[in-house]
Amino acid sequence: MMSEEHRIPRHVAIIMDGNGRWAELHGMERYEGHTHGIEPIRIVLRTAARLGVQYLTLYAFSTENWGRPANEVRALMELFCRCAINEMPELKAQGVRVRVIGDRSHFSDEVRHRLEELEDGTRNGTRLTLVLAIDYSSRLEIVEVARELARMAAAGALDPEAIDEQHFADALWTAGMPDPDLVIRTSGEQRLSNFLLWQASYAELYFPEVLWPDFGEKEFVRALEAYAQRDRRFGLVKNTTHNVD
Ligand code: IPE
Ligand code: IPE
Ligand code: MG
Repeated sequence: MMSEEHRIPRHVAIIMDGNGRWAELHGMERYEGHTHGIEPIRIVLRTAARLGVQYLTLYAFSTENWGRPANEVRALMELFCRCAINEMPELKAQGVRVRVIGDRSHFSDEVRHRLEELEDGTRNGTRLTLVLAIDYSSRLEIVEVARELARMAAAGALDPEAIDEQHFADALWTAGMPDPDLVIRTSGEQRLSNFLLWQASYAELYFPEVLWPDFGEKEFVRALEAYAQRDRRFGLVKNTTHNVD
C-alpha cells in the first residue's frame, strides 16, 4: 500500500495538445485555440498548488513549432508576452515561482525580456514551481549537455571516465528539479514529441482524449487519480522483500 504522500505526484508535466483542433471544431482560427488554452492553465495551476504538487511543467512551444505558419507563431509569441505581464500578480499571490526551459536563442528581445521579468518577479515563490517549456527540444537539451561536458573534459576539468548520470542531470536545463512522476498529453495523441526524454524515463504516462482548451479541474483530478492507481516498480519486482538493497 502506498503512503498518502506518494499518491500526489511531486512533479506533473503536461503536453498541452489539441488547441488547433479545438479551434477548427468551433469554426475559429488556430491561434484562437491557443487563447482558449490559457484558462485551463490557470485551473490546473490552482488545483495543483491546492493538492500539493510541487512542480508543474507545461510544454507550451517546441523548437519544431517554429516551422508553423508565421501568423500562428506570432500569435503564440504575443500570447506568451501578454500572459507574462498579466499573470504575474496572481502567480506571485499564489506563491508560484516560474522557471523557463528551452533554447531561448530564437526569441525576439521582447519575448526574452518578458520571460526573464517573469522569472525574476516570481523568484521568491516557494509553494509551487511552474516550469514553462518554450522553444524546448529534449534532444537539443541533451546535445547541449554533451557539448558542455566535452568542453569541460577538453579543458581538463572533468575526467571522461567520471561522467555519470548525475553529471548529466546536473547539466540539463532542468537541473535541480525532480524528474516528472506523471506526464499527461491531451488530445488523444500518444507520443512525447521531443519532451523531457531523459527526465521522463520512469514517468507514468496518461493520455486523455480531451482537447487542451476543454481540460479542467475534473480532468486533472481524474489524471491524478489514475496516477495514484499505478504501480511504479522502477525495474524492481513487486514484492520488495525480494529486491537487493
Ligand atoms: C498545442 O496545440 C499547442 C502548441 C503546439 C503550441 P496544437 O496547436 O498542436 O493543436 P493541434 O494538435 O493542432 O490540434
Ligand atoms: C507538442 O505538440 C508541442 C506542444 C504541445 C507545445 P505538437 O502538436 O507540436 O506535436 P506533434 O506535431 O503532434 O508531434
Ligand atoms: Mg498538436
